[in-house]
Amino acid sequence: MEHGAHESEPLPDLPAAELSAATKDAEILLEVNDIKVHFPIRKGVLIDKVVGHVYAVDGVSLAVKRGETYGLVGESGCGKTTLGRAILRLIEPTAGSVLFDGVNVADLKPEPLRQIRHRMQMVFQDPLSSLDPRQSVQSILEEGMRAHGIATTGGQRLRDLLSAVGLPTSALRKFPHEFSGGQRQRIGIARALAVDPELIVADEPVSALDVSVQAQVINVLEDLQADLGLTYVVIAHDLAVVRHISDRVGVMYLGALVEEATSADLYASPLHPYSRALLSAVPVPDPVVEDSRERILLTGDLPSPANPPTGCRFHTRCPWRQPTKCDTDRPVLTEFAPGHRVACHYAAEIASGALVPHQVQESVI
Ligand SMILES: Nc1ncnc2c1ncn2[C@@H]1O[C@H](COP(=O)(O)OP(=O)(O)OP(=O)(O)O)[C@@H](O)[C@H]1O
Ligand code: SF4
Ligand SMILES: [Mg+2]
Repeated sequence: MEHGAHESEPLPDLPAAELSAATKDAEILLEVNDIKVHFPIRKGVLIDKVVGHVYAVDGVSLAVKRGETYGLVGESGCGKTTLGRAILRLIEPTAGSVLFDGVNVADLKPEPLRQIRHRMQMVFQDPLSSLDPRQSVQSILEEGMRAHGIATTGGQRLRDLLSAVGLPTSALRKFPHEFSGGQRQRIGIARALAVDPELIVADEPVSALDVSVQAQVINVLEDLQADLGLTYVVIAHDLAVVRHISDRVGVMYLGALVEEATSADLYASPLHPYSRALLSAVPVPDPVVEDSRERILLTGDLPSPANPPTGCRFHTRCPWRQPTKCDTDRPVLTEFAPGHRVACHYAAEIASGALVPHQVQESVI
C-alpha cells in the first residue's frame, strides 16, 4: 500500500537525456516501455540455427509509483517471471526500456548497473532452489551485502534483518534445508532486504506455501513496506492474494497486458473478457451469491507463446469474439476510464451489455 517516498540515493552519473518525461514525475519509481523478451528457438547439431522465437514478453508498458504495490496476474506461462527478470535486467530484454528512478537500466554499463542493482531486488519464485543449499543463512545474507559494499561486521544488521522477517537469530547458523517453506521464503525476503532496496519484485512469494503460512508471509511483506516505504511488484497467479496485497493490478495474457486497474476497480468491474473469465472462477464467500453467480468458461488451451494467434491474442478463446477485427488487429492497451486500461476492441460494447458472450456460459446451480 502507498506510503511516503523512499529516501533515494544520488543517481549514477548519466546524461539528462536518459530521464524520460514521465519519470521526471517524482511519484514514479519504475517505468517499463514496450518491453519485449523473445527467446530464440535453436535447432541443429552441427550448425546452430534459430528456427523461431518464444514471444515470452511481447510489448509491455507500465509504471509503478513509489510505495505502491503493483500486482501481476495471469496463467502459467504468460510471461510473468520473464517480465520480472527483464525489469531487473537479470535477463536482457530484446527491445524496450526500463527506467528506474529515471535511469534507463537497459543502457547501463556493468559498474553503474552494479551500483543501481542493490536498489532493485527480486524474491524468487521457488524459495528452495533459489537458496544455495551449501551456504548458511549468514553466508547467504552476507554475500549480497559484500557485493554491494555494505559492512557485514558486528552482526547487528544480520540480526535486525532476521527479526524484520520474523526469524530467530539462531537461524543464521542453519542451512536452507533445515527450514520449512514459509521460513525459506522469509530468508529469501531477508536476502533481498539485506542490500537496502527500494523496489522488490516478488515472484509468486506465497504460492508454494500452505494457506495459513501464506497470510503470515504476506503480513511480513506488508509490515516491511509500511516501515521502509518499499515499492513492490508482486507476481501471483492467485487472484485472492493479488487482490489483498495490491494497489493496482495488471492482467497478463500471452506476453502482454490485457487490462490494468486499481485492485478495487478490477475486481468490481473487470472489462477484458479474459479478466472476466479469471475472476468468475474465484469462489465468493457468500453462499447465495456463490450459487447464483455465472462462470465464464474458457474453451481451448493457452496457445503457445512460440506461435501466438494473430490479431487479439485472446481471440481463440474469447466468448465475445467478433467476426471483424478480433483475429486481424491487435488491440492496444487504452485508457477506458481514469486509471483503467484495457486491450479489447469491443470493451465499451461488452461493458454496456450491447454484446453478450456467444459461447459456453455456465450458471453454477
Ligand atoms: N530461458 C528460456 N528459454 C526459452 N523459453 C523460455 C525461457 N524462460 C521462459 N521461457 C518460456 O517463456 C514463456 C513464459 O515463461 P515465464 O516463466 O515467464 O511464465 P510465468 O508466467 O512466470 O509462468 P508460471 O506461472 O508457470 O511461473 C513460457 O512459455 C516459457 O516456457
Ligand atoms: S478484441 Fe475481440 S477477441 Fe479480443 S478480447 Fe476483445 S472481443 Fe475478445
Ligand atoms: Mg513464473
